[in-house]
Amino acid sequence: MDQVQRLKKDYPWIQTPLIVGAPMRLIALADLAVEITKAGGIGFIGAGTDISDLTTHLQSAQTQLGSTSSTALLPIGIGFINWGADLDASIPIIAQYRPAAVWFFAPSSTSSLVEWTQRTREVSPKTKVWVQVGSVLEALEAVRNAKPDVLVVQGTDAGGHGLAQGAGIISLLPEVSDAVQQEVASPAEEEEEEEEEEEEGGGGGGGKKEAYAPVLLAAGGIVESRGAAAALALGAGGIVLGTRFLASREANISRGYQAEVLRAVDGGQTTVRTKVYDDLRRTRWADTHNARGVINKSYVDAMRGMDEEENRRLYNEEMEKGDAGWGVENRMTTYAGSAVGLVKQVMGAGEIVREVREGVKGVLEGVRERL
Ligand SMILES: Cc1cc2nc3c(=O)[nH]c(=O)nc-3n(C[C@H](O)[C@H](O)[C@H](O)COP(=O)(O)O)c2cc1C
Repeated sequence: MDQVQRLKKDYPWIQTPLIVGAPMRLIALADLAVEITKAGGIGFIGAGTDISDLTTHLQSAQTQLGSTSSTALLPIGIGFINWGADLDASIPIIAQYRPAAVWFFAPSSTSSLVEWTQRTREVSPKTKVWVQVGSVLEALEAVRNAKPDVLVVQGTDAGGHGLAQGAGIISLLPEVSDAVQQEVASPAEEEEEEEEEEEEGGGGGGGKKEAYAPVLLAAGGIVESRGAAAALALGAGGIVLGTRFLASREANISRGYQAEVLRAVDGGQTTVRTKVYDDLRRTRWADTHNARGVINKSYVDAMRGMDEEENRRLYNEEMEKGDAGWGVENRMTTYAGSAVGLVKQVMGAGEIVREVREGVKGVLEGVRERL
Protein backbone atom coordinates (compact mmCIF):
# COMPACT_ATOMS: atom_id res chain seq x y z
CA MET A 1 0.00 0.00 0.00
CA ASP A 2 1.40 3.42 -0.81
CA GLN A 3 1.53 6.28 1.69
CA VAL A 4 -1.71 7.89 0.55
CA GLN A 5 -3.68 4.64 0.56
CA ARG A 6 -2.42 3.95 4.07
CA LEU A 7 -3.42 7.40 5.27
CA LYS A 8 -6.91 7.07 3.75
CA LYS A 9 -7.37 3.69 5.36
CA ASP A 10 -6.16 4.78 8.79
CA TYR A 11 -7.91 8.18 8.85
CA PRO A 12 -10.99 7.68 6.63
CA TRP A 13 -12.26 11.27 6.92
CA ILE A 14 -9.19 12.92 5.39
CA GLN A 15 -8.78 14.53 2.00
CA THR A 16 -5.43 14.56 0.26
CA PRO A 17 -2.87 15.93 0.13
CA LEU A 18 -3.13 15.54 3.88
CA ILE A 19 -2.74 18.69 5.97
CA VAL A 20 -1.99 18.18 9.66
CA GLY A 21 -2.15 20.75 12.45
CA ALA A 22 0.91 20.42 14.71
CA PRO A 23 0.28 19.79 18.42
CA MET A 24 1.42 23.18 19.66
CA ARG A 25 1.43 23.12 23.44
CA LEU A 26 -1.06 25.58 25.03
CA ILE A 27 -2.07 26.87 21.57
CA ALA A 28 -3.49 23.89 19.67
CA LEU A 29 -6.44 22.90 21.85
CA ALA A 30 -9.84 21.38 21.02
CA ASP A 31 -11.22 24.21 18.83
CA LEU A 32 -8.21 24.22 16.51
CA ALA A 33 -7.87 20.44 16.34
CA VAL A 34 -11.59 19.94 15.63
CA GLU A 35 -11.70 22.58 12.89
CA ILE A 36 -8.70 21.05 11.11
CA THR A 37 -10.20 17.57 11.26
CA LYS A 38 -13.59 18.84 10.06
CA ALA A 39 -11.88 20.33 7.01
CA GLY A 40 -10.43 16.94 6.06
CA GLY A 41 -7.10 17.33 7.82
CA ILE A 42 -5.90 15.83 11.09
CA GLY A 43 -5.94 18.15 14.08
CA PHE A 44 -3.84 17.57 17.19
CA ILE A 45 -4.26 18.81 20.72
CA GLY A 46 -0.88 19.84 22.12
CA ALA A 47 -0.66 18.29 25.57
CA GLY A 48 3.06 19.01 25.73
CA THR A 49 4.67 18.22 29.07
CA ASP A 50 1.64 18.91 31.23
CA ILE A 51 -1.44 16.75 30.89
CA SER A 52 -3.43 18.24 33.76
CA ASP A 53 -6.06 19.85 31.47
CA LEU A 54 -5.96 17.21 28.75
CA THR A 55 -9.24 15.48 29.59
CA THR A 56 -11.06 18.83 29.53
CA HIS A 57 -9.76 19.49 26.01
CA LEU A 58 -10.55 15.96 24.83
CA GLN A 59 -14.04 16.15 26.29
CA SER A 60 -14.58 19.40 24.41
CA ALA A 61 -13.32 17.86 21.16
CA GLN A 62 -15.51 14.81 21.64
CA THR A 63 -18.57 16.99 22.20
CA GLN A 64 -17.81 19.17 19.18
CA LEU A 65 -17.23 16.18 16.93
CA GLY A 66 -20.35 14.46 18.24
CA SER A 67 -18.48 11.20 18.50
CA THR A 68 -20.55 9.06 20.81
CA SER A 69 -19.74 5.56 19.62
CA SER A 70 -17.99 3.59 22.32
CA THR A 71 -15.68 1.84 19.86
CA ALA A 72 -14.86 4.55 17.31
CA LEU A 73 -11.62 6.46 17.48
CA LEU A 74 -11.76 10.17 18.18
CA PRO A 75 -10.69 11.68 14.82
CA ILE A 76 -8.02 13.93 16.27
CA GLY A 77 -4.60 13.30 17.78
CA ILE A 78 -2.82 14.15 21.03
CA GLY A 79 0.75 15.47 21.01
CA PHE A 80 3.00 14.67 23.96
CA ILE A 81 6.42 16.08 24.73
CA ASN A 82 7.62 12.83 26.21
CA TRP A 83 10.55 13.93 28.35
CA GLY A 84 8.16 15.87 30.55
CA ALA A 85 4.76 14.19 30.18
CA ASP A 86 3.67 11.68 32.81
CA LEU A 87 3.33 8.29 31.12
CA ASP A 88 1.32 6.57 33.85
CA ALA A 89 -1.19 9.41 33.93
CA SER A 90 -1.40 9.68 30.13
CA ILE A 91 -2.15 6.03 29.37
CA PRO A 92 -5.62 5.93 31.00
CA ILE A 93 -6.53 9.09 29.05
CA ILE A 94 -5.45 7.48 25.78
CA ALA A 95 -7.44 4.37 26.76
CA GLN A 96 -10.54 6.40 27.52
CA TYR A 97 -10.59 8.77 24.53
CA ARG A 98 -8.91 6.54 21.92
CA PRO A 99 -7.45 9.31 19.74
CA ALA A 100 -6.82 8.43 16.09
CA ALA A 101 -3.16 9.22 16.71
CA VAL A 102 -0.65 10.06 19.40
CA TRP A 103 2.34 12.21 18.51
CA PHE A 104 5.54 11.64 20.45
CA PHE A 105 8.36 14.14 20.54
CA ALA A 106 11.67 14.46 22.35
CA PRO A 107 11.61 11.37 24.58
CA SER A 108 14.34 11.22 27.22
CA SER A 109 15.64 7.96 25.70
CA THR A 110 14.86 5.37 23.05
CA SER A 111 13.64 2.98 25.75
CA SER A 112 11.20 5.62 26.96
CA LEU A 113 9.89 6.02 23.39
CA VAL A 114 9.45 2.26 23.18
CA GLU A 115 7.58 2.19 26.49
CA TRP A 116 5.20 4.99 25.46
CA THR A 117 4.59 3.20 22.16
CA GLN A 118 3.99 -0.24 23.65
CA ARG A 119 1.69 0.97 26.38
CA THR A 120 -0.33 3.08 23.95
CA ARG A 121 -0.75 0.10 21.64
CA GLU A 122 -1.78 -2.13 24.54
CA VAL A 123 -4.60 0.15 25.71
CA SER A 124 -5.72 1.48 22.32
CA PRO A 125 -4.53 -0.82 19.54
CA LYS A 126 -6.10 1.23 16.75
CA THR A 127 -4.50 4.49 17.81
CA LYS A 128 -1.64 5.20 15.41
CA VAL A 129 1.74 6.16 16.80
CA TRP A 130 3.44 9.18 15.25
CA VAL A 131 6.98 10.20 16.18
CA GLN A 132 8.49 13.57 15.33
CA VAL A 133 12.19 13.30 14.42
CA GLY A 134 14.78 15.83 13.31
CA SER A 135 17.62 13.77 11.88
CA VAL A 136 18.33 10.61 9.90
CA LEU A 137 19.70 8.97 13.05
CA GLU A 138 16.60 9.79 15.11
CA ALA A 139 14.42 8.45 12.30
CA LEU A 140 16.31 5.16 12.11
CA GLU A 141 16.31 4.71 15.88
CA ALA A 142 12.57 5.27 16.03
CA VAL A 143 11.94 2.87 13.14
CA ARG A 144 14.19 0.14 14.57
CA ASN A 145 12.87 0.30 18.10
CA ALA A 146 9.32 1.62 18.11
CA LYS A 147 8.08 0.98 14.56
CA PRO A 148 5.90 4.09 14.48
CA ASP A 149 3.06 4.29 11.97
CA VAL A 150 4.10 7.80 10.99
CA LEU A 151 7.38 9.68 11.12
CA VAL A 152 7.02 13.43 11.19
CA VAL A 153 10.25 14.70 9.69
CA GLN A 154 10.92 18.11 11.21
CA GLY A 155 13.35 20.42 9.44
CA THR A 156 15.29 23.18 11.13
CA ASP A 157 13.02 25.94 9.76
CA ALA A 158 10.29 24.76 12.14
CA GLY A 159 8.87 27.09 14.73
CA GLY A 160 9.09 26.08 18.38
CA HIS A 161 11.31 23.26 19.62
CA GLY A 162 13.43 20.90 17.60
CA LEU A 163 16.99 19.65 17.39
CA ALA A 164 19.48 22.46 17.96
CA GLN A 165 21.51 21.17 15.03
CA GLY A 166 19.56 20.29 11.93
CA ALA A 167 18.88 20.53 8.23
CA GLY A 168 15.97 21.92 6.26
CA ILE A 169 13.42 19.41 4.95
CA ILE A 170 14.64 19.87 1.39
CA SER A 171 17.61 17.64 2.20
CA LEU A 172 16.40 15.96 5.39
CA LEU A 173 13.22 14.41 4.06
CA PRO A 174 14.66 12.57 1.05
CA GLU A 175 17.63 11.35 3.07
CA VAL A 176 15.34 10.07 5.83
CA SER A 177 13.13 8.49 3.18
CA ASP A 178 16.04 6.60 1.57
CA ALA A 179 17.50 5.50 4.91
CA VAL A 180 14.15 4.29 6.24
CA GLN A 181 13.36 2.43 3.02
CA GLN A 182 16.70 0.71 3.21
CA GLU A 183 16.18 -0.14 6.87
CA VAL A 184 12.74 -1.67 6.41
CA ALA A 185 13.82 -3.54 3.27
CA SER A 186 16.51 -5.39 5.23
CA PRO A 187 14.79 -6.41 8.45
CA ALA A 188 16.82 -6.86 11.60
CA GLU A 189 17.86 -10.41 12.59
CA GLU A 190 15.06 -10.79 15.10
CA GLU A 191 12.42 -10.41 12.41
CA GLU A 192 14.14 -12.83 10.12
CA GLU A 193 13.99 -15.42 12.88
CA GLU A 194 10.27 -14.76 13.37
CA GLU A 195 9.67 -15.22 9.67
CA GLU A 196 11.58 -18.50 9.67
CA GLU A 197 9.48 -19.75 12.58
CA GLU A 198 6.30 -18.91 10.70
CA GLU A 199 7.54 -20.74 7.60
CA GLU A 200 8.32 -23.77 9.71
CA GLY A 201 4.67 -24.35 10.42
CA GLY A 202 3.80 -21.83 13.11
CA GLY A 203 0.88 -19.43 12.77
CA GLY A 204 -1.22 -21.02 10.09
CA GLY A 205 -3.34 -17.89 9.91
CA GLY A 206 -2.77 -17.53 6.15
CA GLY A 207 -2.62 -14.11 4.46
CA LYS A 208 0.77 -12.43 4.20
CA LYS A 209 1.29 -9.62 6.72
CA GLU A 210 2.00 -6.35 4.98
CA ALA A 211 5.60 -5.22 5.23
CA TYR A 212 6.20 -2.46 7.75
CA ALA A 213 7.00 1.03 6.48
CA PRO A 214 6.13 4.31 8.20
CA VAL A 215 4.34 7.13 6.41
CA LEU A 216 6.58 10.21 6.23
CA LEU A 217 5.16 13.68 6.82
CA ALA A 218 7.09 16.91 6.32
CA ALA A 219 7.22 19.67 8.95
CA GLY A 220 9.18 22.88 9.19
CA GLY A 221 8.86 26.01 7.11
CA ILE A 222 5.73 25.03 5.20
CA VAL A 223 2.96 27.59 5.45
CA GLU A 224 1.26 27.58 2.06
CA SER A 225 0.69 25.58 -1.13
CA ARG A 226 4.10 26.16 -2.66
CA GLY A 227 5.90 24.67 0.32
CA ALA A 228 3.34 21.89 0.53
CA ALA A 229 3.84 20.95 -3.13
CA ALA A 230 7.62 20.98 -2.65
CA ALA A 231 7.32 18.66 0.35
CA LEU A 232 5.23 16.22 -1.69
CA ALA A 233 7.89 16.31 -4.40
CA LEU A 234 10.48 15.41 -1.75
CA GLY A 235 8.52 12.25 -1.00
CA ALA A 236 6.32 13.28 1.90
CA GLY A 237 2.93 11.59 2.22
CA GLY A 238 1.46 14.74 3.75
CA ILE A 239 2.25 18.07 5.34
CA VAL A 240 2.36 19.41 8.89
CA LEU A 241 1.76 23.09 9.60
CA GLY A 242 2.48 24.77 12.91
CA THR A 243 3.33 28.44 12.43
CA ARG A 244 0.56 28.96 9.86
CA PHE A 245 -2.09 27.92 12.39
CA LEU A 246 -0.81 30.53 14.87
CA ALA A 247 -2.69 32.92 12.58
CA SER A 248 -5.96 31.01 12.77
CA ARG A 249 -9.12 32.11 14.51
CA GLU A 250 -9.26 28.89 16.53
CA ALA A 251 -5.72 29.06 17.95
CA ASN A 252 -5.58 29.68 21.69
CA ILE A 253 -3.13 32.56 21.34
CA SER A 254 -2.87 36.08 22.75
CA ARG A 255 -3.57 38.91 20.35
CA GLY A 256 -0.09 40.31 20.95
CA TYR A 257 1.54 37.04 19.91
CA GLN A 258 -0.67 36.69 16.84
CA ALA A 259 0.00 40.30 15.79
CA GLU A 260 3.73 39.64 16.01
CA VAL A 261 3.38 36.55 13.78
CA LEU A 262 1.58 38.70 11.19
CA ARG A 263 4.14 41.50 11.47
CA ALA A 264 7.35 39.46 11.23
CA VAL A 265 8.91 39.12 7.76
CA ASP A 266 12.16 37.70 6.41
CA GLY A 267 12.20 34.90 8.97
CA GLY A 268 15.72 33.74 8.16
CA GLN A 269 16.92 37.06 9.57
CA THR A 270 14.25 37.83 12.13
CA THR A 271 13.85 34.45 13.83
CA VAL A 272 16.54 32.43 15.55
CA ARG A 273 17.03 29.00 17.08
CA THR A 274 18.07 29.63 20.66
CA LYS A 275 17.83 28.46 24.25
CA VAL A 276 17.49 32.00 25.56
CA TYR A 277 13.68 31.93 25.68
CA ASP A 278 13.66 28.54 27.43
CA ASP A 279 16.22 29.76 29.94
CA LEU A 280 14.15 32.80 30.82
CA ARG A 281 11.03 30.69 31.23
CA ARG A 282 12.97 27.94 33.04
CA THR A 283 11.77 25.19 30.71
CA ARG A 284 14.07 22.21 31.11
CA TRP A 285 14.78 20.93 27.60
CA ALA A 286 17.86 18.77 26.98
CA ASP A 287 20.98 20.33 25.47
CA THR A 288 20.15 18.63 22.17
CA HIS A 289 17.08 20.86 21.67
CA ASN A 290 16.38 24.55 21.34
CA ALA A 291 13.52 26.53 19.79
CA ARG A 292 12.95 28.94 16.93
CA GLY A 293 11.31 32.24 17.75
CA VAL A 294 11.18 35.84 16.57
CA ILE A 295 14.17 37.90 17.77
CA ASN A 296 13.17 40.33 20.52
CA LYS A 297 14.68 42.35 23.37
CA SER A 298 15.29 39.31 25.60
CA TYR A 299 17.42 37.69 22.90
CA VAL A 300 19.30 40.85 21.95
CA ASP A 301 20.09 41.61 25.61
CA ALA A 302 21.24 38.01 26.21
CA MET A 303 23.57 38.25 23.20
CA ARG A 304 24.94 41.53 24.54
CA GLY A 305 25.86 39.73 27.73
CA MET A 306 23.05 40.70 30.08
CA ASP A 307 23.01 38.65 33.25
CA GLU A 308 20.37 35.88 33.04
CA GLU A 309 18.71 36.82 36.34
CA GLU A 310 18.30 40.42 35.21
CA ASN A 311 16.97 39.31 31.84
CA ARG A 312 14.48 37.01 33.59
CA ARG A 313 13.39 39.82 35.91
CA LEU A 314 12.69 42.04 32.90
CA TYR A 315 10.86 39.18 31.19
CA ASN A 316 8.68 38.60 34.22
CA GLU A 317 7.91 42.32 34.40
CA GLU A 318 6.93 42.28 30.73
CA MET A 319 4.35 39.59 31.43
CA GLU A 320 2.33 42.24 33.28
CA LYS A 321 1.93 44.20 30.05
CA GLY A 322 -0.38 41.66 28.40
CA ASP A 323 -0.61 41.95 24.61
CA ALA A 324 1.75 44.94 24.61
CA GLY A 325 4.55 42.62 25.80
CA TRP A 326 5.10 41.14 22.34
CA GLY A 327 7.17 42.77 19.60
CA VAL A 328 10.79 43.41 18.63
CA GLU A 329 11.25 46.02 21.34
CA ASN A 330 9.58 43.82 23.95
CA ARG A 331 10.22 40.53 25.69
CA MET A 332 7.39 38.01 25.44
CA THR A 333 8.37 34.94 23.43
CA THR A 334 7.04 34.56 19.88
CA TYR A 335 7.85 31.00 18.88
CA ALA A 336 7.47 30.85 15.08
CA GLY A 337 9.19 29.24 12.11
CA SER A 338 11.38 30.85 9.49
CA ALA A 339 8.46 30.93 7.02
CA VAL A 340 6.66 33.41 9.28
CA GLY A 341 6.98 36.13 6.62
CA LEU A 342 4.56 34.24 4.39
CA VAL A 343 1.84 34.32 7.06
CA LYS A 344 -0.12 37.44 6.31
CA GLN A 345 -3.63 37.21 7.70
CA VAL A 346 -5.74 35.49 10.30
CA MET A 347 -8.10 32.95 8.76
CA GLY A 348 -10.32 30.12 9.98
CA ALA A 349 -8.33 26.92 10.45
CA GLY A 350 -10.66 25.09 8.06
CA GLU A 351 -10.06 27.74 5.39
CA ILE A 352 -6.31 27.35 5.87
CA VAL A 353 -6.52 23.58 5.42
CA ARG A 354 -8.60 23.94 2.24
CA GLU A 355 -6.48 26.76 0.81
CA VAL A 356 -3.20 24.89 1.24
CA ARG A 357 -4.60 21.55 0.08
CA GLU A 358 -6.43 22.87 -2.94
CA GLY A 359 -3.59 25.20 -3.93
CA VAL A 360 -1.15 22.33 -4.37
CA LYS A 361 -2.68 21.23 -7.67
CA GLY A 362 -2.27 24.69 -9.22
CA VAL A 363 1.34 24.87 -8.07
CA LEU A 364 2.11 21.48 -9.61
CA GLU A 365 0.41 22.47 -12.87
CA GLY A 366 2.64 25.55 -12.91
CA VAL A 367 5.65 23.29 -12.40
CA ARG A 368 4.58 21.09 -15.31
CA GLU A 369 4.48 24.13 -17.58
CA ARG A 370 8.08 24.85 -16.70
CA LEU A 371 9.32 21.36 -17.59
C1 LIG B 1 4.29 27.84 18.87
C2 LIG B 1 4.71 26.45 18.59
C3 LIG B 1 4.56 25.47 19.56
C4 LIG B 1 4.95 24.16 19.30
N1 LIG B 1 4.75 23.22 20.26
C5 LIG B 1 5.03 21.91 19.98
C6 LIG B 1 4.70 20.90 20.92
O1 LIG B 1 4.16 21.17 21.98
N2 LIG B 1 4.98 19.61 20.60
C7 LIG B 1 5.56 19.28 19.40
O2 LIG B 1 5.76 18.09 19.15
N3 LIG B 1 5.90 20.23 18.50
C8 LIG B 1 5.62 21.53 18.76
N4 LIG B 1 5.93 22.50 17.84
C9 LIG B 1 6.62 22.11 16.58
C10 LIG B 1 5.63 21.58 15.57
O3 LIG B 1 5.28 20.26 15.92
C11 LIG B 1 6.16 21.55 14.13
O4 LIG B 1 7.31 20.77 14.02
C12 LIG B 1 6.47 22.92 13.56
O5 LIG B 1 5.51 23.87 13.92
C13 LIG B 1 6.58 22.84 12.06
O6 LIG B 1 7.17 23.98 11.51
P1 LIG B 1 6.39 25.33 11.13
O7 LIG B 1 6.15 26.00 12.44
O8 LIG B 1 7.34 26.04 10.27
O9 LIG B 1 5.10 24.93 10.47
C14 LIG B 1 5.52 23.82 18.05
C15 LIG B 1 5.66 24.81 17.08
C16 LIG B 1 5.25 26.11 17.33
C17 LIG B 1 5.40 27.13 16.24
